[in-house]
Amino acid sequence: MKNVSNINNIVIVGAGLMGVSLAQIFAGEGYRVSIYDISEAGIEKGKNLLDLNQRVAVEEQEISQELSDKLKSQIDFTVQMDIFQEADYVIEAIVENMEVKKKFWAKASEMVNDDVVLTTNTSGLSITEIAKAVKKPERFAGMHWVNPPHLVPLVEVIKGDQTDIETLKIIEALAIAVRKKPVRVKKDAPGFVLNRLQYALLREALHIVENDMADCEDVDNVMKYGLGMRYACIGPFETVDLGGLDTFYKVSSYLFAELSDEKEVPNLMRKLYEEGSYGTKTGKGFYEYTEQEVNEVIEKRDRQFTKLGKLLFNDL
Ligand SMILES: NC(=O)c1ccc[n+]([C@@H]2O[C@H](COP(=O)([O-])OP(=O)(O)OC[C@H]3O[C@@H](n4cnc5c(N)ncnc54)[C@H](O)[C@@H]3O)[C@@H](O)[C@H]2O)c1
Repeated sequence: MKNVSNINNIVIVGAGLMGVSLAQIFAGEGYRVSIYDISEAGIEKGKNLLDLNQRVAVEEQEISQELSDKLKSQIDFTVQMDIFQEADYVIEAIVENMEVKKKFWAKASEMVNDDVVLTTNTSGLSITEIAKAVKKPERFAGMHWVNPPHLVPLVEVIKGDQTDIETLKIIEALAIAVRKKPVRVKKDAPGFVLNRLQYALLREALHIVENDMADCEDVDNVMKYGLGMRYACIGPFETVDLGGLDTFYKVSSYLFAELSDEKEVPNLMRKLYEEGSYGTKTGKGFYEYTEQEVNEVIEKRDRQFTKLGKLLFNDL
C-alpha cells in the first residue's frame, strides 16, 4: 500500500461544503489536490466557496494573501474521471446516499491503482456496505471529518469489516501529517462516535424545548457558555473523574430514567422539516435569518472556530 511519504496527489470527490474545505487542508500543507465533481454547476459552487473561505482566512490573518493565492493554485477542479489514474489517495465527499456512493466507488476503484488508500466521508452510512462496491475493499475505510474541516481538528477513522489495519494506520498518519487529530472507531456502527454523541444531545435538547423546560436560545446558551466550553477542554470521562465519580453515579441513578428515549424524530423538528424550514439554507429553521444574517452567522462561527483552534490546538 502507498504509505504517507509516497502520497502527493490527493483526489477529493465532490466540490461541496466538505470537499472544498478538505481541499484547503491538503493544499495548505503542500499537497497537489484535484477535486472531481459530477456537474459543472457543482464545480462553480465549489470555486465560489473556496474564494469565500480563503477571504475569511486572509482577513483573520490565518494566511497571507500570497500564500492563499498559492494554495488556490494547487487545487484543480474537474469533471473528468481520468484524474483517478494519477491519485495517490482518495477522499469521497459526495451526497449521503448509499446507492450513489456504491455506483461511484464501483467505477472509481477500478480506475485507481491497487495500492491507493480509498476513503469515504460518509456521516454515518455503513462502511462495510459501501465497501461491497469497492475493488480491493481492504484498502477502503471511513474518514469522517467535522464541518468545517479546515477549522476543526477531529477525524474519525472507521474500520469496515474488511478494512486492513495497515489501511487505518496510513489514514491516521496522513491526518497527523496535515495537523489533524485522528480517532479510531473500531466498529462500523451507525453514526460512528461523534454523531452518536451529537444526536443523543440533540434528542434531549428537543425534549427540553418540547416540554417547555427552556427555549431554544437558552438551550443553545447552556451549551455555548457551559458545557461547550468544558468539552472544548475535557471529555465526558475526564469530567466525571474530575467532578467525582461518586457524585456522577448518584445523579445517574435518578437522572437517566428521566431522559428522553424517543425513537422517532421529535415533532418540533419534524414540523420544521415538513414545512421546508432547513435552517440557514432556507432562511428559517429553529431561528429566522435574513440573507445578510446567513453570511454573518457563518462568518462569525468560522472566526470563533479559528480563534479557539489557535488557542487550544496550535500544537497539532
Ligand atoms: N455537511 C456536513 O456537515 C458534513 C459533515 C461530515 C460529513 N459529511 C458528509 O460529506 C459528504 C458530502 O457532504 P456535503 O455537505 O459536502 O455535500 P454537498 O451537497 O455540499 O456536496 C456534494 C457534492 O457532490 C457532488 N456529487 C454528487 N454526486 C456525485 C457523484 N456521483 N460524483 C461526483 N460528485 C458528485 C455534487 O455535485 C456536490 O457538489 C456526505 O456524505 C455527508 O454526509 C457532511
